Amino acid sequence: MGEMSVRRRRYEDIPLLVDLLMEQQPDTRYPFRNPLPMPVEEFLHADDAVGAWTAEVDGRLAGHVCRVGPLAGLAAAAEMNLACATAHGCEVEQLAWVSKLFVGRAARGIGLGHLLLATVLDDIRQAGLYPCLEVLPVHEAALSLYVSTGWREVMRVRPEWLERATGDAGPDVLVMVLPEAGDHAT
Ligand SMILES: CC(C)(COP(=O)(O)OP(=O)(O)OC[C@H]1O[C@@H](n2cnc3c(N)ncnc32)[C@H](O)[C@@H]1OP(=O)(O)O)[C@@H](O)C(=O)NCCC(=O)NCCS
Repeated sequence: MGEMSVRRRRYEDIPLLVDLLMEQQPDTRYPFRNPLPMPVEEFLHADDAVGAWTAEVDGRLAGHVCRVGPLAGLAAAAEMNLACATAHGCEVEQLAWVSKLFVGRAARGIGLGHLLLATVLDDIRQAGLYPCLEVLPVHEAALSLYVSTGWREVMRVRPEWLERATGDAGPDVLVMVLPEAGDHAT
């Protein structure tokens, strides 16, 4: 195994991350829609992430995660924010959404997913914010990572983009929070 590290994403990483993400899509169906209805750069929050990190193995780009503020834009956004804020016992403005976690094909299963998730969570905690995320059950490895590290489902929702993509047959999005120790979440 090579040397693993995580660092802040730089803008010039974006083209390589786009390639890394789309190369693994046929294996994982992440992103769920392919082609995406927006530029892949936008999907990766190239311009609007509050924080973003890349993982490397021996200096080669191998994975990514970022965080964004409270959800906006989706019809279901208000409902999703509210479910997480209620579970955390915080204001919607105090939510930090973990987003676009992925590891490239060649570097799976050696701990980079854990490392990226721990990195974004440290940053969220240092900022005094409350972590949440959305995941589709078809993304089994991700769901297993979240469940095994204490994330808890707070709602299921079918956003309009998913309904358009799959009709009635598709999966629902699971909305999850990571309760704090001592959190009075219900
Ligand atoms: C989820 C993902 C980031 C995990 O990355 P990784 O570097 O392979 O993960 P790690 O080696 O750190 O393992 C972390 C955990 O993921 C889960 N996991 C990893 N590979 C798995 C697999 N093939 N099947 C089931 N669970 C798996 C396990 O819970 C594992 O923890 P454990 O080793 O303690 O059992 C990676 O599989 C991925 O990029 N998937 C596609 C993108 C995606 O679905 N993103 C979700 C966005 S919501």
